[in-house]
Amino acid sequence: MTAGAASGGSSTPMVLPVTYLAGLTTLLRPWNVDDAPALVAAWHDPVIQDRLEVPEPADEASAVHWISQREQAWAEGRSVDLAVTDRPSGAVIGEVGLSGFDPVRRAALVGWWIAEHWRGQGRAGEAVRLVVDWALSDGPLEAVMAEIGEDNPASAAVARRAGLRRVDASRRAARKSSDVTLLVFARTRTDAP
Ligand SMILES: CC(C)(COP(=O)(O)OP(=O)(O)OC[C@H]1O[C@@H](n2cnc3c(N)ncnc32)[C@H](O)[C@@H]1OP(=O)(O)O)[C@@H](O)C(=O)NCCC(=O)NCCS
Repeated sequence: MTAGAASGGSSTPMVLPVTYLAGLTTLLRPWNVDDAPALVAAWHDPVIQDRLEVPEPADEASAVHWISQREQAWAEGRSVDLAVTDRPSGAVIGEVGLSGFDPVRRAALVGWWIAEHWRGQGRAGEAVRLVVDWALSDGPLEAVMAEIGEDNPASAAVARRAGLRRVDASRRAARKSSDVTLLVFARTRTDAP
């Protein structure tokens, strides 16, 4: 018997509704193929290359391919990927995504990046907060988790701003430049936001 069966969990995929999320400075929306140049620019940022998985080659064709797969991945409950845009200008300035959906534990991982020139303005904090609040509101999720390198205090601050708290778990992960300990943060539906 699986842990899920023992706890009465269901393995039916969790499909969240397609959404637009508006904050004070950012609007989050599904990716559009016109966003490919912004994605390529982010993929060429050494900080993003070091911390996140970037396709090879990191070119416009790869970006168009990745974006064109998002709708189906969302519809099948495999991932939710939202472009973070600057509200006044409409520029794409980042991404917040949910992945690793676990329908038995009703949990998912949240991840994010903000483009270099838009950092340090509270954009990640606002965007991640919007997605986590939404994901834990009406949908099927009971918990959202984040895995953050112990050498990434800015991201730990972003997680805390979105109401996630450090939990007593960690794991080693290989990154391009080094091995790093990933700290686990989590927020459940019943946690105070
Ligand atoms: C991490 C990242 C998303 C932050 O984006 P950002 O828009 O600059 O973040 P914000 O401005 O919303 O907030 C940054 C927070 O980190 C804090 N911070 C920044 N540098 C810090 C540091 N060296 N130590 C501690 N806190 C720091 C800021 O004070 C702020 O905290 P606050 O919201 O409590 O005031 C961005 O640097 C990035 O995209 N990095 C590369 C990709 C990445 O690391 N993704 C996350 C993988 S888990």
